[in-house]
This record gives sequence, C-alpha cells and structure tokens, in this order.
Amino acid sequence: MKVFITRVIPEKGLQLLQEAGLQLTQWTEKRDLTPAELIAYCKQHDALLSVGPNKINSSFLQECSHLKVIALHAVGFDNVDVPAATALKIPIGNTPGVLSNATADTAFLLMLAVSRKAFYMHKQIGKGQWGFFEPTANLGIELSGKTLGIAGLGKIGFEMAKRCIGAYGMKVIYHNRHTNQEAEEVLKAEKVSFDELLAQSDVLSVHTALTPETKGMFNKAAFDKMKRSAIFINAARGGIHNETDLLNALNEKVIWGAGLDVTNPEPMAADNPLLEMPNVAILPHIGSATVEARDAMAIMAAKNIMAGLKGERLPFVVNP
Ligand code: DGY
Repeated sequence: MKVFITRVIPEKGLQLLQEAGLQLTQWTEKRDLTPAELIAYCKQHDALLSVGPNKINSSFLQECSHLKVIALHAVGFDNVDVPAATALKIPIGNTPGVLSNATADTAFLLMLAVSRKAFYMHKQIGKGQWGFFEPTANLGIELSGKTLGIAGLGKIGFEMAKRCIGAYGMKVIYHNRHTNQEAEEVLKAEKVSFDELLAQSDVLSVHTALTPETKGMFNKAAFDKMKRSAIFINAARGGIHNETDLLNALNEKVIWGAGLDVTNPEPMAADNPLLEMPNVAILPHIGSATVEARDAMAIMAAKNIMAGLKGERLPFVVNP
C-alpha cells in the first residue's frame, strides 16, 4: 500500500508507517502542491497524509475517491469538505488534544507580549532605539485580576484559561454554542452571549474552529463593542477575524492591542502595517510547533493511516 505525505513530517510518524510495510512518498519541496499536483500524486497512492492547507474539497475528493483514508497532520479541518468525504466513504482523521498545551502556550505568549509591547521593543533595540529612561514611556498593562474571554472554549481554550487563572487569577468568561460543563466546574468559567463576551473581556482569545458561522466574526462591528483597553488574540484561524477591520480598530484605538499566530492571508506580507505597530505581536502560525506536539501529531496521523488502510475505524476520526 502506498501513502502520499505532503510535507516532511517527524521521524516518529514515518517510522511507524515504515514498520507497517507501507511505501511512502514525501513531498519535500518548500512550496505547497498545486491542486493538480496533489490530485496527480494521490491518484498513484492509496492514502493521503495531509500537512498544511491542501484544499480537500469536493472536486479533489471526486477525483480521488479511491483514497482509503485521509489523515490530517492538524487538529483543524476547515480545509476539508467533510460531508463530501463522508458521502464517498473516505474517512478523515485529525490530531486533537496533543497540541493543546503548545497552542495555549502560544496564545499566552502573545497575550503577555502584547500587554508589554515586547516584540516592538525588541525590534527598537535592534534599530538603536533603546532610548532615554522615562517613567511615562513604554508603558504596558497588567493582567492580574482581569477578565479573559474565550471565543470557542474547547481543549485549547481550556488550557489557555488554566494558564491565565494560574498566572494572573483571571476571571474566565466564554462564548460557545454548547455549554462546556468541565470548564464551568473546574475553571468556574461563565458562559455569556457574544455581545457580553465583547463588552466584558480585557483579553479576548479566539480558539474556535473556522466555519461558515465563525468566518469574519471579529469584524468592525465586533471590535466596536470591545473595551478600548482590550487585547485581541487569535491563535486559531486567520479567517475568523477581518484583518482590515482589525488594523483600523488598532489605528483608531478602538482596542488596545492584538496578538496573532494566524493571519489572513498566510503568509502575512512583509510590509503589512500590523508588523510595525507597538501593541501588536505576530507569529507565523507556530501554535503546535513544539517537538512534543509535532511528534505526537505525526504518530496520531500515522495511526490513522494504518487503521484506514486496514479498513478499521480511525482512532481519531472527524467524520460523524
Ligand atoms: C492545526 O493543527 O490545526 C494547526 O493550526 C496546524 O494547521
């Protein structure tokens, strides 16, 4: 059986697949495959291990309906038409849970960096701008006792909330479609409406999936309802915020600052004005980029491939 892998993945995942006697082809070029290339490779393979933003849409799935399994090396599956895959009986796997710590760390890092303008200050030193000490200059804001609002409190949001409670005793509110019982019991998190989330959050951290409902939900109307002292964090998907509206909100001091691990589009252009703003911290979508998380993701993806090729239910499955 042959498996096509769209990027170089950690050795631990490859090893499992090799030990299972599978024939592997890895795409090693440092660019995304075009849709036509992806189809051409998949036509010669039985399974796809997909890393990155490959569009697994209905036309791809129709062309590659022979695939026995598609395993994502990611928790997010907004790039996959899951109903179309389900209709074609193609199981889709993902990697939930193992990247929650790493991604929550990234959101926490961004929050702290924005609150003290850390990335901007670092750049200023490199430009010879250490400057004269002034008690009224370079001021950040403190996080102790503030309110953390989570948009989409699942596994990653839970870990972010735990960190903010542990470090700063923050009060946690959240907006979800469903009540998160564990978060309410363990974190004393309070479920609120979207408008309440906007109005009450000192830090608003986005951890929801990108869906038609959440696409662009943080737009001008939303930023206008936030506190002028609020910090906006997005470590989920760039499509959830409107980047022009975010830039305007920061320029017009509608909100205080923003930290992004995801942008829209990705990669962000090097001359994006957000990169020059003092109260902004941007990272290049590295939420899950730790040795521990990436090893675990590669192992889960490999296990999904092996199960799918045997016709077994995937251990980490996305299809209903
Ligand atoms: C995920 O796992 O969804 C990460 O954002 C990588 O795409």
